[in-house]
Amino acid sequence: MLNALIVKNLNVWYGDRHVLKDVNFSLPQNKILAIVGPSGSGKSTLLKVINRLIDLNPLARVSGSVRVLGMEVLSDGINLATLRRVVGMVFQTPNPFPHLSIYDNVALGPRYNRLVRNKEELDELVKESLIKAALWDEVKDRLHEKPVNLSGGQQQRLCIARALANKPRILLLDEPTSNIDPLSTQKIEHTLLELKKGITVVIVTHSLRQALRISDYLLFLENGRVVNYGSAEEISEVRSKAIGSYLKYSA
Ligand SMILES: Nc1ncnc2c1ncn2[C@@H]1O[C@H](COP(=O)(O)OP(=O)(O)OP(=O)(O)O)[C@@H](O)[C@H]1O
Ligand SMILES: [Mg+2]
Repeated sequence: MLNALIVKNLNVWYGDRHVLKDVNFSLPQNKILAIVGPSGSGKSTLLKVINRLIDLNPLARVSGSVRVLGMEVLSDGINLATLRRVVGMVFQTPNPFPHLSIYDNVALGPRYNRLVRNKEELDELVKESLIKAALWDEVKDRLHEKPVNLSGGQQQRLCIARALANKPRILLLDEPTSNIDPLSTQKIEHTLLELKKGITVVIVTHSLRQALRISDYLLFLENGRVVNYGSAEEISEVRSKAIGSYLKYSA
């Protein structure tokens, strides 16, 4: 099976602070990886390396290798626009563009990246992305309203639709359900399970329950180190160890 993501000897520093230490793992395509670990363990930093958002921090220094679908993410020559189209990202706090309509929030990426040839194709892609994000039925009659009218959970699903409209091969989500209601959380979890038919998903979550519900692979970070990494076959063993270590830091 082809790997979507191969991380080798990854180290990250912010100034003198060593925040990711010799991280190694590989993730097959079309699986869900859940990253869990205590606050400050480096989960968000790991996501930010994968799409090179880390570049925005002038203090950050990165060494090692991160390959996304065979492409070396850490090489100087990489095209960041292409990388960020292939690797989509959804953040903890829903952040739709407030001045754009629901439709235009989803349409912006495909227009910019020239993924469609005409209005019909764009309409179709917007609809398909909203359906995949489990939001279409709730917004199909109000596509030209601003997202401020949506609930927090709907706004987060809009952000997922916006990411999907770029046709990413990998979707990164940083605690996407920590600010939203249980029903929207359920819808998002269902969406992620559907998505893995076609793309690879990496989700950071504080909820071990959520991780166990949806993931094929689990990665536990503690103080910048991988303390546990397991595939679905190993999950029950990882689970018992994980619960032990999770209780240790959540106690
Ligand atoms: N921009 C930054 N500049 C300096 N240090 C940073 C920066 N961002 C994060 N750090 C430090 O890097 C370490 C890892 O942070 P990171 O945000 O990756 O953790 P996290 O696991 O996502 O935590 P949380 O669960 O609270 O979101 C922490 O010690 C944090 O203080
Ligand atoms: Mg974080």
